[in-house]
Amino acid sequence: MKSAVRGAMITFRADPFIVPDEESLTHLSDALIVIENGKIVAVGDAAELLPSLPPGTDITHYRDALIVPGFIDCHAHYAQTPMIAAFGEQLLDWLNLYTFNTEQAFGDPAVASEVAAIFLDEQLRHGVTTSAVFGTVHPESVEALFDQARRRNVRMLAGKVCMDRNAPASLLDSAQRAYDESEALIGRWHGVGRLEYAITPRFAPTSSPQQLEALGALAARYPDMPIQTHLAENRDEMAWVARLFPDARDYTDVYARHGLVRPRAIFGHGIHLTEPELDRLAENGASLAHCPTSNFFLGSGCFDVRRTRQRSLPVLTGLATDVGAGTSFSMLTTMNEAYKAAQFNGHALSAVQAFYLATRGGARALGVEDKVGSIAAGMDADLAVLDMAATPLIRYRMTRVRTIGEAMFVLMMLGDDRAVRDTWVAGCRWMPSGGLAGAFGD
Ligand code: GUN
Ligand code: ZN
Repeated sequence: MKSAVRGAMITFRADPFIVPDEESLTHLSDALIVIENGKIVAVGDAAELLPSLPPGTDITHYRDALIVPGFIDCHAHYAQTPMIAAFGEQLLDWLNLYTFNTEQAFGDPAVASEVAAIFLDEQLRHGVTTSAVFGTVHPESVEALFDQARRRNVRMLAGKVCMDRNAPASLLDSAQRAYDESEALIGRWHGVGRLEYAITPRFAPTSSPQQLEALGALAARYPDMPIQTHLAENRDEMAWVARLFPDARDYTDVYARHGLVRPRAIFGHGIHLTEPELDRLAENGASLAHCPTSNFFLGSGCFDVRRTRQRSLPVLTGLATDVGAGTSFSMLTTMNEAYKAAQFNGHALSAVQAFYLATRGGARALGVEDKVGSIAAGMDADLAVLDMAATPLIRYRMTRVRTIGEAMFVLMMLGDDRAVRDTWVAGCRWMPSGGLAGAFGD
């Protein structure tokens, strides 16, 4: 049966890092999005499409709103939800002091399920409908995450973290276990509904060369499968990688020599990459996840999105929260911080570019642009409905904007979860099931 969503909307028909904003953005001030079986079957001006709808079609009409493609978070750690906003450290100390302690609990399916539910409900409250997510080393953590994701019918790429050195013993697997446990999860979950498995070495310092080799062999068996890890986030991390892998040309080479740099491989951070490394990522079709709230929080540095996108060989780049080093589930807040990162790099990220990174750009970075990231016929009906009057200040400020680009910029600078009025997942309006309130037993 058909249903429809009506209101102002935006989507992207081209990449605003390549063409001018006006040639990239499609804006309809009164659109009708027609949905059937979880997919968008038609999009156009409401006045044109309304007469073609079967009588009695359920239409949800949003006023004072902007409908955008469901947001895409290209890199997050659900198991770090309990320690988001842990004070004071940079990457390596932060991992040792907070992260590894927290992640040790995720062999317990009850803990993993509870946190996965909180994480996913937070994502949905923030309009995030597709994400690439790290579990912990425990296969149970990924079982729980996929199970909770399936119940909510979100699109998710996720995998078991693989690490066989330089972490507490209880968080280590081995080269063989990493291969076997990942493959068992692939068999159970890859391609189930909207879920895909992602091969997930944590980062080079916690994987032996043998483990990277095993995961390279696994990746070769599944040539279309996503891969996710971290790359060139922090200067101390990079010096450590150089000591651990003295034969490697650079950090990217550590992954590339094991066949882990390829299409649908997405690398978190990539702040401190050299030009030859960017070339190599681009030539191999790999992607970067820009994680600005995390990069500022951990003092990692200032990722330059213009440098990765506006070069003769652009690197696919998406936007990511990197919860829990990232400090917000909100892609609007993340865009706000991406704007500031760009300012520090001497250029202005337009709202059109920022929304692109959080939607279609992210979909391209994850290799799912044929399914999500745009509001167009054939796409999954994933939508975030942004509230142009979410707060008194936003409502007031919106009376002063003259263009859709200005309105989008106000939303990304002043908006957060309060600016997400509704989230649609595969054609269904998401109803909060209690979310965080339930977690505290109230
Ligand atoms: N590098 C290796 N592990 C992590 C992690 O959990 N978070 C971040 N931000 N960087 C990492
Ligand atoms: Zn991360």
